Amino acid sequence: MKLNIKKICCIGAGYVGGPTMAVIADKCPEIQVTLVDLNAERIAAWNSADLGELPIYEPGLSEIIERTRHKNLFFSTQVDKAIEEAEMIFISVNTPTKNYGVGKGMAADLKYIELCARQIARVSKSGKIVVEKSTIPVRTAATIKSILEDAEGGLEFHVLSNPEFLAEGSAISDLIDPDRILIGGESDEAIQALKDIYQRWVNPDKILTTNLWSSELSKLTANAFLAQRVSSINAISELCEKTGANVDEVATAIGMDSRIGSKFLKASVGFGGSCFQKDILNLVYIARTYNLTEVADYWEQVILMNDHQKSRFANHIVNTLFNTVNGKRIAMLGWAFKKDTNDTRESAAIYVADHLLTEMAQLAVYDPKVSASKIYQDIDAISTRSSEENRDLLSVHLNPYEACRGAHAVAILTEWDEFKEIDWQTIKDNMLNPAFLFDGRRLLDRKEMENLGFKYYTLGE
Ligand code: UDX
Ligand code: UDX
Ligand code: ADP
Repeated sequence: MKLNIKKICCIGAGYVGGPTMAVIADKCPEIQVTLVDLNAERIAAWNSADLGELPIYEPGLSEIIERTRHKNLFFSTQVDKAIEEAEMIFISVNTPTKNYGVGKGMAADLKYIELCARQIARVSKSGKIVVEKSTIPVRTAATIKSILEDAEGGLEFHVLSNPEFLAEGSAISDLIDPDRILIGGESDEAIQALKDIYQRWVNPDKILTTNLWSSELSKLTANAFLAQRVSSINAISELCEKTGANVDEVATAIGMDSRIGSKFLKASVGFGGSCFQKDILNLVYIARTYNLTEVADYWEQVILMNDHQKSRFANHIVNTLFNTVNGKRIAMLGWAFKKDTNDTRESAAIYVADHLLTEMAQLAVYDPKVSASKIYQDIDAISTRSSEENRDLLSVHLNPYEACRGAHAVAILTEWDEFKEIDWQTIKDNMLNPAFLFDGRRLLDRKEMENLGFKYYTLGE
């Protein structure tokens, strides 16, 4: 039997659901794609006439939205209606780390996934293919399946795992030209129906099918391996600083070994983003659940190294500024967890800022894509101090020149391209002396900065 999909619904219009559905709609003009979300404000932003108001910034996204929106791509808060009409439903809701009860701080909170499954079971009047898009712990499909199997009317549901590997900042190009598409499932017809969608633009050789559990575990494993590479090179960056080696030279030298490869070897102030930490914590939690202590400890070290890198960068700033930053203005360039995104989840900048604020520094923050309200929301969410204190100590600026004026030090937290184009001479001229520059992304050229008169520090040399 061949299943012909005419209507798709995606629950969760976030960083994963939004770009993914936009590309599917663009590549499949005859399929009607509806993105639904409980968050009415987010849906209104997706529907905004001004494309600059979209809730997510991704290069190339607004052009696709402009082409497809109100044609075959729709954004709505009417979740039940969209579920009922669709033959295929993607679940793309958030799965944050649990902050209460059993597994607090480690396990993924699956309440939103479970709610979606229950809602699909309650609303459906016909059988459907349900696709897990969100990153979830291995065996979540079993939960979804058991809820759907209990739906009234004996409807036939198929559950597929189709993890999304896009990285933020390059979401659209990753979706258009993926390294692979992974589909885990039990029903050949359901797998084929999803394959038919991707095959419109992805070479069939790149579409891999596995059992459900391999697919679920592959997503966690991919993120754990990527994060582990960053922690590994960051560990070496500290050793470089002690030995006179240069971490970029080391990275280039090892990366030319085809067994190692050159990607994901950029030393930094620490990885952030919604996935790496959450997924590793999840992997560690699952391993502990099965009493696999050595496995759990092995992967946990990746997180501990990342925490160390963030605090060591912040400590280095304090130590260099003569062991006190109390009352000193420190400009922070970048708040997003990487360039080309407005996402700040788990951004290293938040933790470095918190550390410096505890030392009573006056922080002046600039990020090209993150709003002041988001910056305050992030720092308030850590709950180290009251929001009044955060507003007294931290200011947000509209350009780097304003942020750096009168500063004792500048710290680069995100590798935005525009920071390379800054007129650093002007920045230096308007700072106090000695003018310290702490480059947490190895973005600038040491010689050039030293010639301008900066006291320049970068991680890993
Ligand atoms: C290694 C390095 O590869 C080489 O570059 C360096 O110069 C010397 O050390 P070698 O020890 O000769 O070379 O063999 P290698 O192929 O790296 O294997 C080392 C061990 O890892 C072997 O026991 C091998 O069986 C094991 N291995 C390797 C695995 O278990 N799985 C793998 O995927 C690869
Ligand atoms: C990651 C995975 O790459 C993606 O496949 C998965 O679907 C979701 O998680 P993302 O978190 O969006 O994507 O961005 P990524 O490019 O992986 O960067 C994660 C963090 O690692 C960022 O903070 C980045 O700055 C940091 N990083 C990455 C480094 O510090 N050094 C590197 O070499 C690479
Ligand atoms: P991700 O990075 O995984 O896409 P986001 O937090 O950006 O995560 O997006 C997830 C979206 O899912 C949020 O906008 C949230 O409002 C939405 N969501 C969560 N639970 C439900 C639900 N039961 N029904 C509809 N939308 C939901």
